[in-house]
Amino acid sequence: GKVAVLMGGLSAEREVSLMSGSGVLQALQSQGVDAHAFDPAERELSELKREGFARCFIALHGRFGEDGTVQGALELLRIPYTGSGVMASSMAMDKIMTKRVWRFEGLPTPDWRMVNSAEETRAALQALGAPMIVKPSREGSTIGLTKVVSVEQCDAAYALAAKYDPEVLCEEFIAGDETTCPVLGEGASARALPVIRIVAPEGNYDYQNKYFTDTTQYHCPSGLPEAEEREIQRIVVQAYRTLGCRGWGRADVMIRASDRRPFLLEINTSPGMTGHSLVPMSARAAGLSYEQLCLWLVSQASL
Ligand code: DAL
Ligand code: MG
Repeated sequence: GKVAVLMGGLSAEREVSLMSGSGVLQALQSQGVDAHAFDPAERELSELKREGFARCFIALHGRFGEDGTVQGALELLRIPYTGSGVMASSMAMDKIMTKRVWRFEGLPTPDWRMVNSAEETRAALQALGAPMIVKPSREGSTIGLTKVVSVEQCDAAYALAAKYDPEVLCEEFIAGDETTCPVLGEGASARALPVIRIVAPEGNYDYQNKYFTDTTQYHCPSGLPEAEEREIQRIVVQAYRTLGCRGWGRADVMIRASDRRPFLLEINTSPGMTGHSLVPMSARAAGLSYEQLCLWLVSQASL
């Protein structure tokens, strides 16, 4: 039947989603799938039913797309969709909630404080030490993020993050190797794909360096010792299963330079599928083409 590729949307990551969605759309069409673009920012989701769409590929990022809201609407419309269900999507979108669950389950994640004012941000810096990361709890692609090194930066860092989300996360900065690792599947059959090690200019893997420059280096195979790669894959699968994710996801993990311990930062339940994105890169290293990945995800669409 007809497949709708949901792309665009209303979040700050709209631009990224349009890039992800056009890649997915092209890939599905090239494989003979009757796929059409659908932007929930422009049309009511109920039109999906009227137009007879059998499945949705969710290529939306951020709020109103990756956070369980669209998933809930599709549940009501009874249209199967790719990726995680309502609760896992909504927990994973909220970095603070995610960290609470991981910490409760004994999974390693950097220390943090939830703050609601500039004053609390300064107090968080006191408690966590510099450098500290200040970011909106429910955003993606490094939008609204500041690496704070001194107390003078706290007010501006808080104000910037709060522009995107009233819930602001202050997080201990882990200096070391930046890695990411996709997971495919569900429950006991969830499997990690190869780890990617990211080397950004001056260690600054920001919005620009994620999508628009060619100076960020991606290593896959990661070049990490075998035991470290295994350990990353092990905790990432646990982190994914603990939140109840399904279909696919991609967890971001820092390896602390001082003792080589891995720390989970977050999990993306609707990972980027742009030309610069990482799930397609890792999948390819595992022998799965972009087209095969898209077809497999559509085949796993569920309610
Ligand atoms: N939030 C972006 C799309 C990603 O994680 O790939
Ligand atoms: Mg993210």
